[in-house]
Amino acid sequence: MRIVLVGPPGAGKGTQAAYLAKNLSIPHISTGDLFRANISQGTELGKQAKAYMDAGNLVPDEVTIAMAEDRLDQQDAADGFLLDGFPRNEQQARALDAYLDRKGIRLDGVLDLEVPEAEVVKRIAGRRTCRNDSAHVFHIEYKRPKRDNVCDEDGGELYQRPDDTEDTVRNRLEVYHRETEPIIDYYKQQNLVVTISALGPVPEVTKRAMEALRHTQHQH
Ligand code: AP5
Repeated sequence: MRIVLVGPPGAGKGTQAAYLAKNLSIPHISTGDLFRANISQGTELGKQAKAYMDAGNLVPDEVTIAMAEDRLDQQDAADGFLLDGFPRNEQQARALDAYLDRKGIRLDGVLDLEVPEAEVVKRIAGRRTCRNDSAHVFHIEYKRPKRDNVCDEDGGELYQRPDDTEDTVRNRLEVYHRETEPIIDYYKQQNLVVTISALGPVPEVTKRAMEALRHTQHQH
């Protein structure tokens, strides 16, 4: 399956993507995680992205689209993928469509995670992320690590992302409403969108998501 995941910052995209990708045997491709890996490795791409991310703004399309296409070209994505955090504006959505056209493939569905803003703020404020791998995500209340500040997966140190401060989160939410929400309508025109509530325990949301994705598979 080829799936795009959308939802506001802190909706639980990364959390759900890990389970969905495993259940569906497809790679989880997060542009946020790719940027963070580049930053921690000190690459040129990481240096370009850092200031935008720390301020909660979008990294320029040119850089982002090239990075996403590079990742999609890798062998493990040939038969399917779960895109998390890309596309994030209409220009990126059009670029992805053009890429898929060139490959003669299409998306199976766009999963839209809906969460009230107050919950998003709580989720982000309590989030702790592993220094070794930003796909390892915990929460001080909702998903506590076995040992304080230590990642259950690889023993890495847990830290608070620099873009998880109150001001930056407010800007990220604004950017989401202005830039990213319009792509939901863009994909609705292609009849690809399924919306689910992302409230409730993580396994319940995963169940809802799997159910919704089965529905899109029948439609296409
Ligand atoms: P990115 O890393 O994509 O961040 P985001 O979209 O803001 O999403 P988050 O990672 O904050 O949240 P999430 O929805 O994954 O939630 P999570 O699962 O962690 O992007 C970061 C930056 O990179 C952007 O601001 C931009 O600068 C740049 N960027 C990335 N892609 C780009 C693009 N395409 N174009 C341009 N720039 C780009 O969950 C949050 C917390 O809640 C966790 O602590 C988790 O444990 C907890 N939680 C999850 N589910 C539940 C639940 N059901 N109940 C209770 N708690 C839960």
